[in-house]
Amino acid sequence: MKFVRFIMKNAALASVPKHIEHFSKFSPSPLSMKQFLDFGSINACEKTSFVFLRQELPVRLSNIMKEINLLPDRLLTTPSVQMVQSWYIQSLMEILHFLDKNPDDHRVLGEFVDALVTIRNRHNDVVPTMAQGIIEYKEAFPQDVVTNQNIQYFLDRFYMSRISIRMLINQHTLIFDGTTNPVHPNTIGSIDPHCQVGDVVQDAFHSAKMLCDQYYLRSPDLVLQEMSRKITFKSNHPISIVYVPSHLYHMLFELFKNAMRATIETHESSNNLPPIQVLVSLGGEDMSIKVSDRGGGVAFRRIENLFSYLYSTAPAPQIGEHTRPPLAGFGYGLPISRLYAKYFQGDLQLYTMEGYGTDAVIYLKALSTDSIERLPVYNKTALKNYKVSQEADDWCVPSKEPLDLSSYKVAKAK
Ligand SMILES: Nc1ncnc2c1ncn2[C@@H]1O[C@H](COP(=O)(O)OP(=O)(O)OP(=O)(O)O)[C@@H](O)[C@H]1O
Ligand SMILES: [Mg+2]
Repeated sequence: MKFVRFIMKNAALASVPKHIEHFSKFSPSPLSMKQFLDFGSINACEKTSFVFLRQELPVRLSNIMKEINLLPDRLLTTPSVQMVQSWYIQSLMEILHFLDKNPDDHRVLGEFVDALVTIRNRHNDVVPTMAQGIIEYKEAFPQDVVTNQNIQYFLDRFYMSRISIRMLINQHTLIFDGTTNPVHPNTIGSIDPHCQVGDVVQDAFHSAKMLCDQYYLRSPDLVLQEMSRKITFKSNHPISIVYVPSHLYHMLFELFKNAMRATIETHESSNNLPPIQVLVSLGGEDMSIKVSDRGGGVAFRRIENLFSYLYSTAPAPQIGEHTRPPLAGFGYGLPISRLYAKYFQGDLQLYTMEGYGTDAVIYLKALSTDSIERLPVYNKTALKNYKVSQEADDWCVPSKEPLDLSSYKVAKAK
């Protein structure tokens, strides 16, 4: 019996590349916030969601699996990346198993929910495992600009794809597991149709404050202000949007950790810490949140690096290091938060003044009709982006050595 299972598993594995090839030919279908809500409305249909997901999940998985294969060999063959790749293959096979199942059979629908939960758990550690792969690669090979660009391009797309796949899985499992969320009964899956932004700001601030107190034995205060296009909001009119509170919390928590760390390290010798100021503003198109600190800012030259997966000023934590969560980890706080903002067509930007402080602004769509998933698609353009080669700079590189004009006679030929 064991032998038969072994043979069948290997046969299934052998057919994986064929399936990836097939499903990667389809473009993922981005869902709008409204469509997400419809899947969870009163006449929500588990069968429709099942039929959609058993096609859409393989499409999203296969699109990104094609891109994993385009990584530089030296990165692709690290044990960590191999592990992540094997999780993707396993999960793809498990979903394909439902392709020929009967959507009218309740047992099938139940098994599908269970399979999705297993898949979600399997992929819990994808981010730190991938980060480990990058560290292994960085230690073993000298950096080159093109490979760094490739890795940045890939990881932005890979993590965005992961956010979207988890969103689909969360919606289906939360809506159709037959229970309601006891804490937030009005949420639809992970979406809150009346997400009060100020509340999430307070929650995220307090979590970051606890960490900060634990480490530095003190922490800055919060000053929160809400403004809307028409009137200045009082506490009885809080700003709310249709959004995923856990995504918003994630971004704010990361921004607060950074702002607190910078504030404390800059004001080490001072008794007073300048507060972190948050301004929530609602317009006709955007809902923006500005987090301002007086933590000394960052040099302009370094700004691009702050969103890079390859640079971090903090020492890298080890996987499974669960004791005392650090205020600074893999250096993924900003890039991943920006992906969460971009996922529903928003953005996250830093405006920093070295010597003073930083403003980090989260831009989200004010209207749920504008909040549509932003998804990577594997196509010729993506392929071309992995094939860029290092070319000569078309701007002169300034020499570090001062030019000796006394011996400088004839212009050198190129
Ligand atoms: N508000 C800020 N003021 C000053 N420097 C900042 C601020 N925000 C970010 N930085 C700098 O940007 C770097 C990258 O931030 P990011 O949040 O991405 O990673 P991290 O804080 O190092 O680690 P992680 O967030 O993964 O735990 C930080 O290490 C810090 O040097
Ligand atoms: Mg951080």
